[in-house]
Amino acid sequence: MTSVDPNAFKAAAGSFATGVTIVTSKRDGQVYGMTVSAFASLSIDPMQIIVSLRGGALLNDMINDSKGFAVSILKEGQKEIAAYFAASGREPCADEFPGIPCEFGVSGAPIIGGSLAHFDCTLATTYDGGDHVIFVGNVDEAVAGDGEPLMYYKGSYRALNALG
Ligand SMILES: Cc1cc2nc3c(=O)[nH]c(=O)nc-3n(C[C@H](O)[C@H](O)[C@H](O)COP(=O)(O)O)c2cc1C
Repeated sequence: MTSVDPNAFKAAAGSFATGVTIVTSKRDGQVYGMTVSAFASLSIDPMQIIVSLRGGALLNDMINDSKGFAVSILKEGQKEIAAYFAASGREPCADEFPGIPCEFGVSGAPIIGGSLAHFDCTLATTYDGGDHVIFVGNVDEAVAGDGEPLMYYKGSYRALNALG
């Protein structure tokens, strides 16, 4: 067992500045999503990405059942969308999220309208990640647009500033 203080762990992990993604899935006409910073591109051949989701999250079951998910990378102006998808106690929605326009990927998962980029994926496999589950997706679609990313650092949303 580690003797590391959980708060020290969280402070160190939170010092890694990330972008902000919304991971979504659709099952039986119902959509759900979660704000996720634990995203990474994994492999080019095969083309794969990973996300790490808290064990027991509703989204996990939806991805396992539907075998598909999408990852939308948020733009600078989409802080409210990140906050919506980070709130707990939400229920899945019929067809669409209230007030959040979406397109739908090949997997059927919603893609957040106006996002900076997105991946639409078929579930490849999952790995046990302690109290999280690592989802590996085979990328069926990858699209990037223009704009600036929403960032997350030390518990706050941030904007990216170029160093020049
Ligand atoms: C900026 C940010 C990043 C987050 N990253 C993750 C993540 O990588 N994995 C995760 O499981 N939860 C992450 N969360 C927490 C989930 O968004 C939150 O627990 C979830 O949406 C609540 O819904 P649930 O009740 O279905 O779990 C993050 C939250 C925020 C605000």
